[in-house]
Amino acid sequence: MQAELAKHQARIESAGYDVVAPPVPGQQFDEDQLIELLPGVVGVIAGDDPFTERVFDNAPDLKVLAKWGIGMDAIDLPAAAAHGVDVMNTPGMFGNEVADCAMTYVLNLARHVVVIHERNNNGEWFKPEGMTLSGQTMGILGFGNIGQSLGRRALAFGMNVLAFDPAPAAASVAAEMGVQMADLDTIARTSRFVVSTAPLTPETFHLVDAEFLSKMRADAYVVNVGRGPIVDEAALTQALDEGRIAGAGLDVFEVEPLPATSTLRHRDNVLLGSHNGSNTHEGVVRTSARAVENLLTALAKVSS
Ligand SMILES: NC(=O)c1ccc[n+]([C@@H]2O[C@H](COP(=O)([O-])OP(=O)(O)OC[C@H]3O[C@@H](n4cnc5c(N)ncnc54)[C@H](O)[C@@H]3O)[C@@H](O)[C@H]2O)c1
Repeated sequence: MQAELAKHQARIESAGYDVVAPPVPGQQFDEDQLIELLPGVVGVIAGDDPFTERVFDNAPDLKVLAKWGIGMDAIDLPAAAAHGVDVMNTPGMFGNEVADCAMTYVLNLARHVVVIHERNNNGEWFKPEGMTLSGQTMGILGFGNIGQSLGRRALAFGMNVLAFDPAPAAASVAAEMGVQMADLDTIARTSRFVVSTAPLTPETFHLVDAEFLSKMRADAYVVNVGRGPIVDEAALTQALDEGRIAGAGLDVFEVEPLPATSTLRHRDNVLLGSHNGSNTHEGVVRTSARAVENLLTALAKVSS
């Protein structure tokens, strides 16, 4: 958002607000930094910053929290409501972007592109056998905007697509698309790629756990573009160490940035991202405009 701020600053100021954009340390502020910054602030456009009860307790002027993006897992929504803070996100903004990112992991894992590239740079002419995507099964956990965009891509590659999502709306879209709703057991046992595109909730925490991984095929891959804690990384490490699955592609992690000591590092069969699935020029432009719109609309409502 900060890269786009100059385009929107005059509009925000003409609505009567001063704009402050303190440099973000790394991926997001921590609680103490937010508490220091928030007094005097009536509206915020936030990334994945932790808006906990303690933060709301110490933000006496805050009226509106406009989430830049979709996942609201870093925001304590009941605490926001108790403090009278209006919270909204930008739904539907990153369907194509994050689906492209997931498909990038799928294609790279199927054809070992990164490994070949690295070996070529080291002077080696490496020719590992890959996988034909057409005819393979992809199981998608969470069939919302991103899951459906990914499903369309996988179908276009000739894959069979299964989806797990408790929402009735997901089932009706799946039926129209030719995607089959399935339970977790079926997805674990039959998919060559299990892709998480779900939000982080108490129900999705460690959805891909030791039990799920134990049911997976030995030639199957886990891809996670939803939220890190959906996959139990300790259980994933063990499954990889024991060769019980073929590999993984991870855009998101239980702790971000990924610690240098992570047991997932330095494996030819694991692709590591940097929670960057939504980060395209077009996506940033679109989402920033929507977040500003959301912020100003909500501020106008609370001040009227
Ligand atoms: N990697 C990235 O950069 C990146 C970027 C944007 C979003 N995300 C993540 O992707 C998530 C999904 O985004 P979206 O736009 O598709 O959201 P969405 O709201 O359109 O879809 C989420 C879907 O997940 C389903 N769901 C909820 N609980 C579930 C459960 N227990 N099991 C299975 N499915 C469940 C919902 O019913 C819904 O259909 C976001 O919440 C965010 O965490 C990641």
